[in-house]
Amino acid sequence: MGVEVHQLGNEVVGRRLGQNLYNPAGNLLLRKGVEITPRYLDYFQDSGYQSIFLLSQGVSSEGSRFNSDRLLTTAPYILKKVFRKMRIDDTVRAAQAKGDLLSLAEAILVHVQNRLEKPPQLLELKRQGDYLYQHCVNVAVYSIFIGRAKNYSDQQLLNLAIAGLIHDFGMEFVDGDIVNKKDELGAEEFEQVKQHTTKGFTHLVHNCAFDGITTVASVQHHERFDGTGYPKRLHGNSIHEFSRIITLTDFFDAWTSDRPHRRMHSLSDAVAYIQEEQGSIFDPALAQSFTRLFT
Ligand SMILES: [Fe+2]
Repeated sequence: MGVEVHQLGNEVVGRRLGQNLYNPAGNLLLRKGVEITPRYLDYFQDSGYQSIFLLSQGVSSEGSRFNSDRLLTTAPYILKKVFRKMRIDDTVRAAQAKGDLLSLAEAILVHVQNRLEKPPQLLELKRQGDYLYQHCVNVAVYSIFIGRAKNYSDQQLLNLAIAGLIHDFGMEFVDGDIVNKKDELGAEEFEQVKQHTTKGFTHLVHNCAFDGITTVASVQHHERFDGTGYPKRLHGNSIHEFSRIITLTDFFDAWTSDRPHRRMHSLSDAVAYIQEEQGSIFDPALAQSFTRLFT
């Protein structure tokens, strides 16, 4: 049975919850499939939720604006709202947003597991203004495929999906003029961009109470396998596997996107570049299992 997103309102009473719901501390609050009672509705509204995931009602739900068929299209907009809430210095609202993000990650995982045999063509989904959110969703989706090829458990896949969604959260703190600059960045500007790793990680841990496993990639995804990356010049397996996966999927999605400073590369160019750079930028074993998905 599919999952869809609904605006919160009286009509959700009697429907069944589409995702496990967690409290701000990350503990399970309500299990997927539980019937939503008026008391639960009050709780959701009091907690500041605006939307909620529901189990689909079969054919009758096809007219829904946010049904599971369109999850990958709507997810960036949900993520944008979540990032906006997470970046403010209000730990209560930031923690609420974390709950929304966990639900979104779970919906994406369910969608990929139930519906997708191969990585989808995500090339057409990107629009410049919302690039960051589309990029993070795409990275989560591609990363799930690598985790699946490595026989990750459902819990590992969920953690990896969360890690993908938040890996570039720190870009929220980089000056928009720098992010959208068409010309090459100056040294100082590049230094500012590099800080998205440490700033994002610090905010995710301290303001939003994310745990280490889901945030490690936010600080490590620009490390390189040969030790020439940033911020810490880590190398090889001293870089967490989630980070090595997200280095690949981050690069792949960025390269197959139009950016202010360059046009998108083709899928086959991106695959060829990953193969060339295995051992230098990318973990060779992971690079092979990723490129196999596209050949
Ligand atoms: Fe990044």
